[in-house]
Amino acid sequence: MSTYRIAWLPGDGIGNDVMEATKIVLDALKFDAEYIHGDIGWDFWCKEGDAFPARTIELLGKVDASLFGAITSKPVKAAETELVPELKGKGLIYRSPIVRMRQLFDLYTCLRPIKAYPGNPLNFKEGVDLVVFRENTEDLYCGVEFNPVPAELAETLTRLSKPFAAFKDLPLDQYAISTKINTRQGCERIIRAAFEFAAKFGRKKVTCVHKANVVRATDGLFLEIFKEVAKEFPGIATDDANIDAMCMWLLKNPFNYDVLVAPNLYGDIISDLCAQMVGGLGFGCSGNIGEKLAVFEPTHGSAPKYAGLYKTNPIATILAAKMMLDWLGEKAMAVRLEAAVAGVIAEGAVRTYDMGGNASTLDMARAIADKL
Ligand code: NAI
Ligand code: MG
Repeated sequence: MSTYRIAWLPGDGIGNDVMEATKIVLDALKFDAEYIHGDIGWDFWCKEGDAFPARTIELLGKVDASLFGAITSKPVKAAETELVPELKGKGLIYRSPIVRMRQLFDLYTCLRPIKAYPGNPLNFKEGVDLVVFRENTEDLYCGVEFNPVPAELAETLTRLSKPFAAFKDLPLDQYAISTKINTRQGCERIIRAAFEFAAKFGRKKVTCVHKANVVRATDGLFLEIFKEVAKEFPGIATDDANIDAMCMWLLKNPFNYDVLVAPNLYGDIISDLCAQMVGGLGFGCSGNIGEKLAVFEPTHGSAPKYAGLYKTNPIATILAAKMMLDWLGEKAMAVRLEAAVAGVIAEGAVRTYDMGGNASTLDMARAIADKL
């Protein structure tokens, strides 16, 4: 029997290419795992009306961890038109499997390391080394949305909210409402995860990203809890910044920051900004981590125009596998894998198109495997 059971979810588009590449590297490491394929992504939406079938949800309940490639997502109306004829008009509504997975398995931490590997021609600045903790289950992504707005809700808001006066006379189909819901528990556990990580890995500072001066209720709560939790970690410096200013400061001086913690939407925004500082989508990796399950993935999507061409960079997914090894407690393997990736980047002989080279997805994987 293998030591680990890993749900293997390539998804669609380049998800298949980068996962095939990552398997080459995990095999070279002699990582002792049983990989169990799980169906997920656009094909299953079109054929079955469910991009995240029940059998895949069941599989995720029975594994140690999961590696996930990428999937195609489309807006609700466009998704409906691509269903097979027998499923059309049945009221099926497309929902992103990734958001569902995060909520179903309570994968509340989205962990995104941002590291400039020396020699990467795409580095914005050498030496960047940040870690983003993004809340992953609530905030503006909680799914509580209305378009058109129900009359009952409009009446209640008219009674309870002064600023709503600006909208109260509009026809109900002339505006939409997306709610941002942040719970005390949700804020506290992501903030605590960021501080615990900082303490464990000797990081000097945790910065809270918010917009509490404008979005007072929810972001105010996030900042308040940040200050409470910070008191338990007196050895770690803290500061906080508005999301807009944060984007500017990160570009201007990324070396002023270390660990960043943010509610879902702001975390999403700074993650992409930070990923671009260290090479862009070909290098951005992330972990969706809960108490019982963790799912690791590149942050890029399915890049349909490159699907099956073996052209895109597999490093993001290979680094996601490295994060998975860390999470499973396979530290030595994780260190070796990261060193091999860093070595190939530093040498610069094998580069995919995004790095200015013409190596294929699998060439890159083989170069990393050889280094091991
Ligand atoms: P994308 O990330 O798929 O691709 C955008 C562009 O980035 C590509 O055309 C390519 O030029 C570059 N790129 C992406 N991955 C790369 C890699 N590994 N190496 C080198 N270059 C790379 O984003 P896009 O085009 O906005 O979305 C395509 C589909 O993916 C959509 O259906 C979208 O909803 C979905 N998506 C899925 C995500 C996921 O599975 N986690 C995340 C983001 C988007
Ligand atoms: Mg994003």
